[in-house]
Amino acid sequence: MLKLTKVSKVYEGKVAYRALTDINLEIEKGEFVAIMGPSGSGKTTLLNIISTNDAPTSGEVLIDGKDPHKLKKNDLAKFRRNELGFIFQDFNLLHTLTVEENIVLPLTLDGTRVREMKEKAQKIAENLGIASIMNKRTYEISGGQAQRVAIARAMIHEPRLLLADEPTGNLDSKASKDVMKMLVSINEEEKTSLLMVTHDPQAASYSDRVVFIRDGKLHSEIHRGESRQAFFQKIIDMLSLMGGDGSDFSSVRV
Ligand SMILES: Nc1ncnc2c1ncn2[C@@H]1O[C@H](COP(=O)(O)OP(=O)(O)OP(=O)(O)O)[C@@H](O)[C@H]1O
Ligand SMILES: [Mg+2]
Repeated sequence: MLKLTKVSKVYEGKVAYRALTDINLEIEKGEFVAIMGPSGSGKTTLLNIISTNDAPTSGEVLIDGKDPHKLKKNDLAKFRRNELGFIFQDFNLLHTLTVEENIVLPLTLDGTRVREMKEKAQKIAENLGIASIMNKRTYEISGGQAQRVAIARAMIHEPRLLLADEPTGNLDSKASKDVMKMLVSINEEEKTSLLMVTHDPQAASYSDRVVFIRDGKLHSEIHRGESRQAFFQKIIDMLSLMGGDGSDFSSVRV
């Protein structure tokens, strides 16, 4: 459902910076893929290109056989609304709106009826344990709650591809586990394809496959076998094989 062919990105500036080189990556419908790599290796850049927030310098992106970078402005807006869900590194919530208004935002753009929106929002909020804060403003809630609101908003229109940048980055291990279980259940029940950037090996171990990036290039990938625990260990081993003292992979990032 997602196919990247030789995607490269050079940030122009006083000094041009090559952030990605010849990335080939394919994701099947319903697959859950994690992307890992040191800070600055190009993970967010890659996600921004797939989400069409940014254009590749060269190479091709196909989502369900279509290149979103070739769509006209209106068609692109519609495509993004219908096909994609995003969870950003900084949540991107709107602070003038309530939690509930933030969650239903993707539906309001599509003209869904208010009652239907409220029902959908309620169901998702209950699943995520945020039903009691629906009427709060986003500056009145905690970081972990904000993260769940961002997840609820990304899921409410049932996208075919969900893109997540560090969805557990600011959560403690219990909250992080809840979020991962939530993502896995969307993935399994709705057959939503999932591409998640994470520094956290525990979070990555919930995926079907982990792709490692280093210096803007694909480094390696490993698949999940029978046990999540064994997969977790393989991920840890690969991270240490990739080098560094592990501090680059710190999950504490605000
Ligand atoms: N708009 C930009 N202009 C110039 N260089 C950029 C820009 N955005 C990112 N870069 C550079 O591209 C490289 C990759 O950045 P990117 O944000 O993709 O890293 P990342 O893997 O997501 O890192 P992190 O784990 O810290 O979030 C970095 O060296 C960064 O400095
Ligand atoms: Mg990043």
